[in-house]
Amino acid sequence: MVTILDGNDKCAIRKAVTELRAGSIVAFPTETVYGLGANALDETAVAKIFSAKKRPSFDPLIVHVETLEDVVAYTGPLGENALLLGERFWPGPLTLVLPKRPIIPDIVTAGLDTVAIRIPSHPIARALLAEVAFPIAAPSANKFGYVSPTTASHVERSLGDSLDLILDGGPCTVGVESTVCIVNEAGVSVLRPGGITLEQLAEAVGPVSLGNSSLSAMKSPGALPSHYAPITRITLVPASVRLPAPRHGERLGSLSLMSRTDSVGYLAQEVLSEKGDMEAAAVKLFAALRRLDDVGLDRIIAEIMPEEGIGLAIMDRLRRAAQREGE
Ligand code: TXA
Ligand code: MG
Repeated sequence: MVTILDGNDKCAIRKAVTELRAGSIVAFPTETVYGLGANALDETAVAKIFSAKKRPSFDPLIVHVETLEDVVAYTGPLGENALLLGERFWPGPLTLVLPKRPIIPDIVTAGLDTVAIRIPSHPIARALLAEVAFPIAAPSANKFGYVSPTTASHVERSLGDSLDLILDGGPCTVGVESTVCIVNEAGVSVLRPGGITLEQLAEAVGPVSLGNSSLSAMKSPGALPSHYAPITRITLVPASVRLPAPRHGERLGSLSLMSRTDSVGYLAQEVLSEKGDMEAAAVKLFAALRRLDDVGLDRIIAEIMPEEGIGLAIMDRLRRAAQREGE
């Protein structure tokens, strides 16, 4: 049985550090979503992440470190853009894909010669990194392809049978995963929109490109179209269009930014932010999708939300969730 401990408690951190040092996997909160962590330099420990998540070995992991010096230690000297981005947004929800040094095992990067690396800002993640003397590889702590967890109980429900310890830090404050950027001679390209917006990146380094989905799916396997999908099918509808009425006892649920008056006959309604605040909506997105998924609906009707700022990450996740194979 999995143990859930309050991650703000020093004893819990000590226990997690002991587990990680012994080569076990531990789930812990970051500001974006909960991660499933292991010593990134220990291949056997990292293999446990892949088997717990049922994650295919071709999908590389993000490595979490404490300082910019650690980043340099695992990637080599940073170029101008990487340095600008790191200094501006770390600690925080930004992941940079950089050349990797040989000390990072191939299992972490799925054999690529680059490593995705970030410095998280969550105090519990930072407390762990400060105590262990190694980088922590951690994907989101969900079964492969399912919605990412933003609470300890989400982790417990997805992976409770496959790990021993979850550190509870309450709900994550960003709510969507980090922005994954590749930085090279060609410039800065976003492979996965996330907690740091394109607008914020452009302010720091000038124009950035957004990898198109087929290209970024190759470069960033986790950006496959059907990622982040709940079991229930999702249909996207423009915000200005009336929600479809349920037909013949059809079990429908709605997901919208602000409350709507046209979800008549719907069995469940999730509103992400009464005030239309996109940051607040991002925080609630994954928990809302999980709640809708738990109702046993025939279909979730999700409103298309403004694709600016963090709205780009919200709609990226919703479009992927709606784009199930064969549909
Ligand atoms: O916010 C986050 O990023 C969370 C927390 C726990 O840090 N982690 C997370 O990890 O979302 P994961 O494994 O669910 O997503 C990692 C993404 C995947 O899309 C993966 O394909 C991509 O990063 N990635 C990892 N290494 C890469 C590399 N070397 N080149 C390109 N993409 C890479
Ligand atoms: Mg994930």
